[in-house]
Amino acid sequence: MNAAPPAPLSAEPLAAMAVPRHAVQQRFRTPKANIPPTPFERTRLLHAVRDYVAEVNPVPPLPMTELREHADHLTARLGCNPVYRDYLGVLLNNEIWRESLAAVPFERRLLLLPKCMRVESKCPAPFDEFGLLCKQCGLCTIQDLTAEAEKLGYAVLVAEGSAVVMSIIQTGKIDAIVGVSCLSVLEQAFPYMEAAAIPGVAVPLLQDDCIDTTVDLDWVWEYIHLSSEDRTRRLDLGALHEEVDLWFTPPSLELIMGTAEGETERIAREWLARAGKRWRPFLVASAYQALRSGSPGAPRPDDLRKVAVAVECFHKASLIHDDIEDNDAFRYGEKTLHEEHGVAVALNVGDLLIGEGYRLLASCQVSAEQRVRLLKVAADGQRQLCRGQGAELCWARHPEPLRANAVLDIFRRKTAPAFEVALRLGSLYAGIAAHDEVSDVLGRYSEALGVAYQIRDDLSDLGLGGETNDIAGLRPSLLLAVAHEKAKGATKDQLAALWSRTWPEGLTPAAVEALYRELGAVERAEVLLGTFKEEAIRSLHDLENHNLKGLLRRVLGKIFNDVEIKGWCKEQEAANRAAPRIVPEAVPA
Ligand code: IPE
Ligand code: MG
Repeated sequence: MNAAPPAPLSAEPLAAMAVPRHAVQQRFRTPKANIPPTPFERTRLLHAVRDYVAEVNPVPPLPMTELREHADHLTARLGCNPVYRDYLGVLLNNEIWRESLAAVPFERRLLLLPKCMRVESKCPAPFDEFGLLCKQCGLCTIQDLTAEAEKLGYAVLVAEGSAVVMSIIQTGKIDAIVGVSCLSVLEQAFPYMEAAAIPGVAVPLLQDDCIDTTVDLDWVWEYIHLSSEDRTRRLDLGALHEEVDLWFTPPSLELIMGTAEGETERIAREWLARAGKRWRPFLVASAYQALRSGSPGAPRPDDLRKVAVAVECFHKASLIHDDIEDNDAFRYGEKTLHEEHGVAVALNVGDLLIGEGYRLLASCQVSAEQRVRLLKVAADGQRQLCRGQGAELCWARHPEPLRANAVLDIFRRKTAPAFEVALRLGSLYAGIAAHDEVSDVLGRYSEALGVAYQIRDDLSDLGLGGETNDIAGLRPSLLLAVAHEKAKGATKDQLAALWSRTWPEGLTPAAVEALYRELGAVERAEVLLGTFKEEAIRSLHDLENHNLKGLLRRVLGKIFNDVEIKGWCKEQEAANRAAPRIVPEAVPA
């Protein structure tokens, strides 16, 4: 095979990416006392509210007294701190109005933002009688939210107070309001909205001090885009992920791929079934779900499983080869394949899995043209991935310290292709041609998703005490790059030694980790993680397809905000394997 040499590392595509505005603003702020401090707790309450509303089914509009009764009831039921009662009331009201809001066309909705979200000391915007006239200077998120909402057709006001709400309602041009506000302003505006029976949802601000405030952007975005036009909005991503996971049980794999013959195939199947988060096959299924025609509840076609399994075959092959290349002894808390069976066998099993992926794609019952496209997308992705991986491997022959941008570039080139292949194959299988409008967006989205994913992977090594992680493995890590850039004197020399893959005497992985924190590398990596997540969101800006836009937005939340247990717990894995698994029905042989 005549592989193209890896292109030189370039920081260019990444240089333009700014630090996310919210990350800058969110530091050193006093959180609101009556709002749960962590996103995890807020999500937990939101789920409880959803269950409660589904069970009790209150019909809107609810007067304040009734809303409070429900909130009291729920507070008691959850045993949560009573200071969150009003916050729960807002969540309840949102949930009760949710479906009504979804049915209102975007052009009949108002987005109401508070002026305190601006950076007060620097904001150049003047005011008129309707509020702030944003100058789009880019200092705060008002600009992004306004642009996104106006593009959909919303009227947007950056103003505060019940008087504005009342006058807007009286114009009769608005049928629903999405508001961002502090709880006390909400309380004042609420009676007007209730009296006019205007569907309204509100997202509470996260700080107490009425200045330079911030908000959970994911949440505002979700409400802005909530629309019954999006057929996928009720799709339960958790359930989809679980379903995809079940495609990888040994009996299911046998149905999808046929019977494994001989030792080599058996090892490959076992490796495929062993473990993994299954994000790439999940992306195949998600893209397909968003783009297919037909009724939302229709069963997923058999060939979709082949495409999803093919993508995981490519990924698992790359992990086998990566573990050999990196000389890693453990993965998923168990021996790597080459530790278990020797390098020769492991290499060959990886090769087999690549072949299996192409075989599965080629066996899909689609038009000849579509089949060629599926195969070409997979082949392109495979080449990209090998070139990205190659860039890292060639660097490792003479490892010089890398700057953060160069590390990010490696991430972009080695991690993004697998996500992109998954999304493209899912879209293609749903019948969307690769040259369509979505293609560019999928490229940009995957790139940002891939980099963010790999940064998180770097960060997830922290606190695990070394042994099998990237710190001990001396892999090019963003943390090492930033720390080395910032360090001075003897510390810089020590970190430079790590870059050349030698451990300075007396330095332990735990001490390196402490250095990363001291030098601000951890904080910087967290900010960059936010930047790339935001970049993924921005990449969706021009997407006209409601279903795909909504779904890809939610997929980010699913991949990054799910509460994950760091590292693999051997006992838990063993218990999972021993537990009886449900085999999906009607999977073709
Ligand atoms: C491993 O990917 C390689 C990286 C890009 C970090 P995953 O962490 O998604 O691996 P699995 O699929 O869960 O095994
Ligand atoms: Mg590697």
